[in-house]
Amino acid sequence: MKPNNQQANEKWNKLRAEYFSDRPVIIAANRAPITFDYTPDGELTFTRGAGGLVTALNGLATYMPARWIACARTEADARWEEGEVEVNENQKVYVKFINPSPETYDGYYNHIANPLLWFIQHNMWDLPRAPIINKHTWHAWKNGYQEVNRMYAEAITRFTCNADNRPVVMLQDYHLYLAGRYLRKQLRRQQMPTLMHFTHIPWPGPDYWQILPPPMRHEILDGMCSIDVLGFQTRDDGRNFIRTVSALLPKSSVNYKDRTIWYRNHRTHVRDFPISIDVPGLNNTAASPEVKEYLEDIKRIKGNHTLIVRVDRIDPSKNIQRGFQAFEEMLEIYPEHLGKVKFLAILIPSRLDVPEYQNYLDELMAAVGQVNARFGDSDWEPIRLIVSENYPKAIAALQSYDVLLVNSIADGMNLVAKEGPIVNQCSGVLILSERTGARQQLETGALVISPCDIYETAEAVHRAITMDPEEKKERAAELRRLVETEDITHWLLDQLESIVELHL
Ligand code: G6P
Repeated sequence: MKPNNQQANEKWNKLRAEYFSDRPVIIAANRAPITFDYTPDGELTFTRGAGGLVTALNGLATYMPARWIACARTEADARWEEGEVEVNENQKVYVKFINPSPETYDGYYNHIANPLLWFIQHNMWDLPRAPIINKHTWHAWKNGYQEVNRMYAEAITRFTCNADNRPVVMLQDYHLYLAGRYLRKQLRRQQMPTLMHFTHIPWPGPDYWQILPPPMRHEILDGMCSIDVLGFQTRDDGRNFIRTVSALLPKSSVNYKDRTIWYRNHRTHVRDFPISIDVPGLNNTAASPEVKEYLEDIKRIKGNHTLIVRVDRIDPSKNIQRGFQAFEEMLEIYPEHLGKVKFLAILIPSRLDVPEYQNYLDELMAAVGQVNARFGDSDWEPIRLIVSENYPKAIAALQSYDVLLVNSIADGMNLVAKEGPIVNQCSGVLILSERTGARQQLETGALVISPCDIYETAEAVHRAITMDPEEKKERAAELRRLVETEDITHWLLDQLESIVELHL
């Protein structure tokens, strides 16, 4: 079924009329849909956040009363505190910022969420050496992660107590595993909102969670089992969650067939809702004059070369270095491509206060330097690295690839793998790591690789470059069809429908 605005509208209207007309939706996420700032004259202004989640949830706000709770990231966010913001014409969303102290935020974001949990969930710790969980980690857990989760729970409680009807709370991601339990402690059963949580990143099996000390992992699982509907990106993630609970949460009882968990007299339903992109929104951006301007730059870089592109946050989970090594190996095995292929890597700075991220860019630059020094000459730069947070430029690059490389070590979904096929104008080939959530939906159109296997990746790059034009066209069309079928509205509607189906 190809969704279109009309179909989506019909579904929204039905859901609203039958179920959500008077139930407010509360979204709780680390990031807000907007960021406030001051102009040079001291006036308050805001920029709208990019990304599908913001677009989808803003869309929701046009149909039902929605409130968004997020952490303040700027002084201006903190000053704003809360209120209604017109994010787009006719689209208002009520945003409330919680404002942890810098020390609390640092513990929560830079010590627990991003290195400790992120690295566990992406299988990235080098166990003989890391992580080292010491008194600072415990301090960050108690005064950072627990504290911020408590602040969210308090803000949600306040909204709930002031609402005329029971809200639906949609907690987002690994930043907020504990908030559900805190809410159940604060509110009486009759007051409890319907609780949903969506994990955007992979959920590994119990062995990997055993890296965390029992009190930490117990509190995470206890918090998650306070939720009514837990959403994961893939069926495997959901199954891993149930396995983790079964192995590591005493007194819980799990049912794999129904995908339910019974714990502390409460039933949790486990579901998969693969996240996607806002296809019409992306098409609009791709047609904008700004992207058209950047397209000229990218065309100059491309010249008459075959262009390999990657677009990633500078995150070790994205496996950027092995991508360069695979390119190097490909040039070694197939010297006929020397001088004819270019690799453009657009890399977005990310989480620079997290120690595990700090040296990564240096390592990448060294890897690029090595390939360019070995094979390049005055006429040909094999790899071009662009470090910038420039979404329109990234879209222009995605329009121009002949090969798109997504070789993450592990990835909840990977939205670049979905954006690329929608905007690409060259029947480009997608090389996709088998350890991305996107693999589940896109494997029939992509060349699937194992992310540590540089040789296989090199062979896939060669195969993509030399692929018969008819096969390229078919694969590109298949990918486009797959992404269009299940876009971001689908993701959101599926979650809301699950509440109705489960009578929550
Ligand atoms: C992943 C996470 C999101 C997060 C994003 C960017 O996609 O699942 O929750 O917002 O990365 O990371 P940042 O730390 O910059 O918010």
